[in-house]
Amino acid sequence: MILFISRIFALSFLAQGLAAQQIVNGQIYTPGIAIIDAPQPNTPLGGDYLQVALDVSSDGQLQLPPYPDNPTSAIWNITLFLSSYTTGKNFTISNGTATAGNASLGEIMLQEPGSTVKHVNWVWPDCLIGDGAPTNDSSARGLYNISIRQNFRLNGSDEYTIFDLPIQVTNSIPAESNRPSCDSLNNALLPADVLAISANNFTRIAGTAIKTNIANRLRTGGLVDVQTAAYILCITTLALLHAF
Ligand SMILES: *[C@@H]1O[C@H](CO)[C@@H](O)[C@H](O)[C@H]1NC(C)=O
Ligand SMILES: *[C@@H]1O[C@H](CO)[C@@H](O)[C@H](O)[C@H]1NC(C)=O
Ligand SMILES: *[C@@H]1O[C@H](CO)[C@@H](O)[C@H](O)[C@H]1NC(C)=O
Ligand SMILES: *[C@@H]1O[C@H](CO)[C@@H](O)[C@H](O)[C@H]1NC(C)=O
Ligand SMILES: *[C@@H]1O[C@H](CO)[C@@H](O)[C@H](O)[C@H]1NC(C)=O
Ligand SMILES: *[C@@H]1O[C@H](CO)[C@@H](O)[C@H](O)[C@H]1NC(C)=O
Ligand SMILES: *[C@@H]1O[C@H](CO)[C@@H](O)[C@H](O)[C@H]1NC(C)=O
Ligand SMILES: *[C@@H]1O[C@H](CO)[C@@H](O)[C@H](O)[C@H]1NC(C)=O
Repeated sequence: MILFISRIFALSFLAQGLAAQQIVNGQIYTPGIAIIDAPQPNTPLGGDYLQVALDVSSDGQLQLPPYPDNPTSAIWNITLFLSSYTTGKNFTISNGTATAGNASLGEIMLQEPGSTVKHVNWVWPDCLIGDGAPTNDSSARGLYNISIRQNFRLNGSDEYTIFDLPIQVTNSIPAESNRPSCDSLNNALLPADVLAISANNFTRIAGTAIKTNIANRLRTGGLVDVQTAAYILCITTLALLHAF
């Protein structure tokens, strides 16, 4: 009963907040390269799928994979879990290897190959079926984190970071025959301090630049940088002058 009361308390208080400077024009800067376009923190979610939109180019600063050899910056992979110290659940959204029916998803960086925004569509598992806030202690519904883990290289340093986006699983999730069992996706929960030690202490300041290999970027037909654009303009002007 005490646990139940504290859960309701936590729900009504929107327990975790994010630092205001991490959110710029509705985009959430993770400690990494990915930027979360959706959902916003503390949003009540439900429906058929959990949907997450991740910009993996840092708003166009970084090309998509395949990356050049030995890149200055890259996202090696992204894993996602839906976890909660409140409910004790820790579901795999993606650990890089898809399971039957995409109950857990394959490598996020490899889906939608031409798109800088990866749209994660994950079927809510069966124990989250319901409507509204949890009504009893054994419910798996309620407060969760979408835990986003990035293995990446930024400006030449390899990093591993964990970012927890708080959400509320409180909207209606209808029963459907394609819902995987929670047991098939559930993992052990590790204590927060153990996880903190396992990750790099990296802070991405919103708006900071990302260094990339410019030569390789051109070779792979990626973005043209300002210097190259100026050079092309210069050559074109010279050629035109010559023609007249
Ligand atoms: C979400 O993650 C934060 C740490 O990043 C933790 O303090 C909080 O308890 C987690 N929330 C839930 C519901 O597990
Ligand atoms: C992610 O990338 C890191 C660094 O390259 C690697 O050690 C790890 O095995 C990869 N994990 C997955 C799930 O691909
Ligand atoms: C799983 O997701 C991948 C990538 O989005 C897609 O290509 C594939 O068709 C899906 N498989 C199933 C069984 O839904
Ligand atoms: C607890 O709530 C869940 C819905 O979240 C419901 O499926 C379950 O039957 C409830 N259990 C009890 C004992 O009332
Ligand atoms: C990935 O997650 C699925 C679903 O939880 C699990 O069956 C599989 O063993 C996991 N794979 C790895 C390499 O952890
Ligand atoms: C959830 O499970 C995954 C896979 O075992 C693990 O890497 C991750 O650290 C776990 N999350 C928490 C909060 O314990
Ligand atoms: C992480 O880095 C920040 C800023 O550099 C520092 O204030 C903080 O103490 C560091 N935390 C840990 C656990 O090392
Ligand atoms: C990466 O390099 C750019 C350009 O030198 C710099 O502006 C930026 O602050 C660096 N970012 C980090 C996280 O070191």
